Amino acid sequence: MTAFYRLPYGVRRDQLARASHLTVAQLALLAQHRQATDEDLIENYLTTYGLPEGVAVNLRVNGRDVVVPMVTEEPSVIAAASNGGRLLTGDTGITTTITRRELMGQIVFSHVQDPQRLQVWLASHEQELLQVADAAHPTLLTHGGGARSLRVRILPPDWVSLDLFIDVGEAMGANLVNTLTEAVAAKIKASLDVDILMSILSNYATHSLVTASCAVPVDQLKTKTIAGAGVAQRIAEASDYAQVDPYRAVTHNKGIMNGIDAVVLAMGNDWRAVESGVHAYASRNGSYQGLSRWWVSAGILHGELTIPLALGFVGGATKVLPLVKINQQLAQVDNARDLMGITAAVGLAQNVAALRALVTDGIQRGHMSLQRKSLALSVGATPTELPAVTQRLAQFKQPTTAQATAALRAVRQANLKK
Ligand code: MEV
Repeated sequence: MTAFYRLPYGVRRDQLARASHLTVAQLALLAQHRQATDEDLIENYLTTYGLPEGVAVNLRVNGRDVVVPMVTEEPSVIAAASNGGRLLTGDTGITTTITRRELMGQIVFSHVQDPQRLQVWLASHEQELLQVADAAHPTLLTHGGGARSLRVRILPPDWVSLDLFIDVGEAMGANLVNTLTEAVAAKIKASLDVDILMSILSNYATHSLVTASCAVPVDQLKTKTIAGAGVAQRIAEASDYAQVDPYRAVTHNKGIMNGIDAVVLAMGNDWRAVESGVHAYASRNGSYQGLSRWWVSAGILHGELTIPLALGFVGGATKVLPLVKINQQLAQVDNARDLMGITAAVGLAQNVAALRALVTDGIQRGHMSLQRKSLALSVGATPTELPAVTQRLAQFKQPTTAQATAALRAVRQANLKK
């Protein structure tokens, strides 16, 4: 029998349609979203699954006002990022720092009889191994990148990891790191009788840390009913609490990642890599903790967020997804470091917006109008019907799908009479 992936597109689709009882309308939807340019991007391509893209505004990062493209299905995310940006706008707004941007490849040795001896050998061959790495991808050197250093870690009972730190220039760099790491592993194998289990990039990007920080007068945080000093104090308490309770820390960090993932997606980067690295970093002290810290001193609310964020400006999906180029242009970024900074800044803004809402009015109040909209859309309201449907839904505290369907029916009947 022919392997599924070898079948022509139409045959594959028809087999799926039969097995899943897809209707004519459903098939038409799949066809409507089918894009020839995506067909060779993944295996067993069926259609292109789109997500909404919008832009966050009001963000000032390192003294520059930026518009940040974000791709997300969650209604409140972009509104919260823009709101957070507004809350944190000062002279420079959010400032970001990146001390280095290196990716790590690791070569894992197993059943090592004398780990210390292997460690000494690897350390004494550092320069030679770095040269082997560079030779595996000479164009990297012409772009200012290259293998920078080695580190050896001995792990019980008899593992050794050789960590290779590589400056990948502006690239996303996963393939590049894998190529260099495999070349170094081959060189070691040719010189030593060792058991190498694997050679692969590590997504725990501890050598690509970015810090976003801000300092804003507490007055800027005030709500209609609560003075800024009180709000800032409660934001600081919420941040302290996320340090001690993993149940809260996960949600605290999820809010930060609402913003970060949306930017990473818009910029064609690997959000799974970012997610796994960030959550590992949140656990670096032995328990899972909030990634950001907020504190008040002398009438100023300070915030800081440090995360591993090895984003690339070129390569990978940035090349094949045409919207990425436009998104880079919208954000006016032309290098990986600026992209990392802006992304971390969105995380910090997203976090302050969530915390401020949580410790004052509660999250639902701000979410309600967006939820009414998505409820109306989910029952089939068109963009022109949306305002009238959401207006009808405003009378309900927690509108249901049935109420949204009834509201849409009423709007349509009223429109017929016009
Ligand atoms: C919802 O998507 C995100 C929040 O839960 C984040 C938080 O609780 O900090 C509002």
